[in-house]
Amino acid sequence: MDEMLAGRSAIVTGAGRGIGRGIALCLAREGADVAIGDINLANAESVAQEVREKGRKAIALECDVGTRKGAETLVQAALEAFGKVDILVNNAGVVGAPGWQDRAEPSDEDWAEVLRVNLMSRVYCSEAVIPHMKQRGYGKIVNIASIGGLQGSSVIPHYCASKAADINYTQSLALQLGPFGINANAILPGILFTDMIRGIHDQGKVRDTSRAELSNEEIFRKAEERIPLGRGQTPEDIGNMAAFLASDLAKNITAQAIDVDGGMRMH
Ligand SMILES: NC(=O)c1ccc[n+]([C@@H]2O[C@H](COP(=O)([O-])OP(=O)(O)OC[C@H]3O[C@@H](n4cnc5c(N)ncnc54)[C@H](O)[C@@H]3O)[C@@H](O)[C@H]2O)c1
Repeated sequence: MDEMLAGRSAIVTGAGRGIGRGIALCLAREGADVAIGDINLANAESVAQEVREKGRKAIALECDVGTRKGAETLVQAALEAFGKVDILVNNAGVVGAPGWQDRAEPSDEDWAEVLRVNLMSRVYCSEAVIPHMKQRGYGKIVNIASIGGLQGSSVIPHYCASKAADINYTQSLALQLGPFGINANAILPGILFTDMIRGIHDQGKVRDTSRAELSNEEIFRKAEERIPLGRGQTPEDIGNMAAFLASDLAKNITAQAIDVDGGMRMH
């Protein structure tokens, strides 16, 4: 099969590990050059090297995309490295401020941090790249939300609210940018056993007391039992959807929030 993204250039935020790394590698597999922005430079550099090993260009930048300055610096660096940005994948995300796992309830700082990183980074990065995309009459914005954005949660209400905001913001972007040839869609992963999820379910720290006695592995197995397809997702599952939405195969798809969850939300 031909590469879906030959000649394209992309930015992926929070791509130093987990889902973002999977997305960066899928975009590269499909032919795109990739700018990797992360607060962890060593991780970003290691993923950039993996992209180069696939024969694509890559840059790694240490940046906090939850600040306007960090987002603008990342977009500028990608423009300088590649000459254009066709694709923005807003993936960076957190579940709270440092130490959130130890708090019985989300604190003011936890609420502020999830809104800053999970929502405002999407706003800052999009606003930084939109003038360039408008000028070219071409662009694909993919926001990584969560099925949690369509369901409340007794454990992480602040996180779910931020993901609901991601979905709603994606719809606004699609309405604003459609006339300029720019698509905006959201991907809603179900559950992936990344470092983030291990943090949520860290043994002994889980706030859902009905499951406090279970180990991570037992919690993951229980979660998989709820999934019709019987498995958690992989970063590559999410990367494949991101590559499709960023490609011209999806040129008539915009304003959508697409579950990649093995059917988990319907169960
Ligand atoms: N893991 C899951 O089950 C799951 C499910 C649904 C949605 N998601 C979403 O997928 C995305 C990735 O999650 P993950 O599981 O790979 O998490 P992760 O914690 O493994 O990776 C997140 C990455 O983002 C980076 N990052 C955090 N804050 C940043 C900032 N301010 N600026 C730049 N980089 C920053 C981290 O350094 C890290 O490399 C998140 O938006 C998350 O909400 C995850």
